[in-house]
Amino acid sequence: MIRNQWYVVLESDEVKTGMPVGVTRLGEKMVFWRDGQGKASCMVDVCPHLGAPLSLGKVKDGHIACPFHGFEYDTSGQCVVLPAYGSQGKIPKALRVKAYPVHEAHGLIWIWWGENVPKDLQPPRFFESLENERFVFGRFRDHWPVHYSRMAENQLDVMHLPFVHHNTIGRGNRSVVDGPYIELDEGLMNVWVMNRLDDGSPVKKPKEVSRPDRRPFLQFRFPNLWHNWIAEDIRIVIAFVPVDDENTIMMGRFYQKAVRFPLAAQLFNLSGVIGSRVIANQDKRVVSRQVPVKTSLHMGEKMMSGDYGILTYRTERNRLKALAGQAED
Ligand code: FES
Ligand SMILES: [Fe+2]
Repeated sequence: MIRNQWYVVLESDEVKTGMPVGVTRLGEKMVFWRDGQGKASCMVDVCPHLGAPLSLGKVKDGHIACPFHGFEYDTSGQCVVLPAYGSQGKIPKALRVKAYPVHEAHGLIWIWWGENVPKDLQPPRFFESLENERFVFGRFRDHWPVHYSRMAENQLDVMHLPFVHHNTIGRGNRSVVDGPYIELDEGLMNVWVMNRLDDGSPVKKPKEVSRPDRRPFLQFRFPNLWHNWIAEDIRIVIAFVPVDDENTIMMGRFYQKAVRFPLAAQLFNLSGVIGSRVIANQDKRVVSRQVPVKTSLHMGEKMMSGDYGILTYRTERNRLKALAGQAED
């Protein structure tokens, strides 16, 4: 997993005021809670005193209080109340819980997962074409027993469409893969899918195609957000939320602004969610059985030109890992 990145980890309504919630994300036990103003915080779910889970505790005066001996921590993770020392007691500075920066927008909660938070930390970005627009959405969610990289790559894989989805989005046997054409800019991959019927003409490799005169069909925002730009009015967004190295939550949304009347919109969203689930389950059947569960650039898989989306993903992941001082995959 790439350090020093903003990961979508939860939806806003999963963290209720006054009720800490414990979850595993990125291989760590974490606690999420809201202070008196409703601002969300994230910390490692281990009290530094004797290791009790803070998620079993309470929110008190804008602090999280450990269930074991009542030590209270502020949103930065510093212990600020230590009942056993009394109100005049001196609290050791080292009595701190590791806290991660949190950002909340679009009904999503991101954490910046890394060490040494930069002073000028910029907030995470979503997808511009979805911001400030009157979309409504239906949600879907599923657990996959894979590393999140397999799920991300699956949604950048243009070669599987006529096979895995032969009776849904891959109908029509457009099995020849020109390109794909890909642009990568500041952690955002734009992918133009150029699949076609086999008319006997030679396939065009990614370097031989130019930018099509239309919007990209897929976008991937590192490290874990994906956008399928189906039509101006209809989109799918999926966050691949890493639980640990072998488990991921697919957090999906079917967005639309085509149907506005509330009841009709609900029905339309429901049909979009059902369709998205059917398609995701077609992928899951195969992807959840890929080995190994986690991908790397140099793992010996034999990539073809149509795998350019996957190759770009793995290459960029290594670049970002190197920036964070991590070893390559
Ligand atoms: S273990 Fe948390 S206060 Fe003791
Ligand atoms: Fe698929």
